[in-house]
Amino acid sequence: MSETPSAAAENARVVLVTGGNRGIGRAVAEEFVRRGYRVAVTSRNGDGPEGALAVNADVTDAASIDEAISQVEQQLGPVEILVANAGITRDTLLLRMSESDFTEVIDTNLTGVFRTIKRVIKGQIRARWGRVILLSSVVGQYGSAGQINYAAAKSGLVGIARSLTRELGSRGITANLVAPGFIETDMTAVLTDQQRTDYLSAIPAGRFGTVDDVAKTIAWLASDDAGYISGAIIPVDGGLGMGH
Ligand SMILES: NC(=O)c1ccc[n+]([C@@H]2O[C@H](COP(=O)([O-])OP(=O)(O)OC[C@H]3O[C@@H](n4cnc5c(N)ncnc54)[C@H](OP(=O)(O)O)[C@@H]3O)[C@@H](O)[C@H]2O)c1
Repeated sequence: MSETPSAAAENARVVLVTGGNRGIGRAVAEEFVRRGYRVAVTSRNGDGPEGALAVNADVTDAASIDEAISQVEQQLGPVEILVANAGITRDTLLLRMSESDFTEVIDTNLTGVFRTIKRVIKGQIRARWGRVILLSSVVGQYGSAGQINYAAAKSGLVGIARSLTRELGSRGITANLVAPGFIETDMTAVLTDQQRTDYLSAIPAGRFGTVDDVAKTIAWLASDDAGYISGAIIPVDGGLGMGH
């Protein structure tokens, strides 16, 4: 079936996914490639999915983000859709959590997002169109024992998306959060069998999520169909965080 002209223009947009070499970020990049977008990923090892431009960047380093995004702009054009996905965990209970366990997670998962948005946003303001999609988590609202650092960063992203919406909503820019529950990736592979069993028993859907569950939601949020949604937290959690 041939595309309508507006669908073709929509799909030609430039997407940047941070941390697109594995896990959720890679699946998101693959989904956009499948839909015909011009896709770039940041990676710390130069690897990315087929059909996407891979650029080196560490989100804890503003200069490396600047350099990576300059490459994307030269090769594909300004970043119209940003998916801020790169993230880490340093889980441990509060009494054992060191200050560096806390600040490293904040530096990557919260300040890293600030740095990346700041670098792409001028182009979106100029174009009077943009999508900013942030990977939060069910634990940002629900809380999680052993994840004070991670939950603080993920709930902090709510403040970023909602303030950005108030600052730039009138410029055709939306900022939303996707809040996955338990998704099968390297990040959750380190959990113990007991933790997995506990999570599973709390998920109404009765299964863990897949990276595609998250990727398809993000692709929809980036589309024109979701143009009037901003400052929202979209759960992709099988009901785990209902009401939060
Ligand atoms: N999996 C879940 O259940 C789940 C649930 C809720 C939210 N999330 C969120 O979803 C996002 C992706 O999670 P995931 O499960 O796909 O994690 P993952 O498999 O551990 O992948 C994390 C990605 O982030 C990148 N990254 C980490 N630190 C970085 C840095 N300083 N600079 C640049 N890239 C960096 C990693 O790059 P390297 O390969 O170089 O390390 C990797 O590409 C994260 O923000 C996570 O918090 C995940």
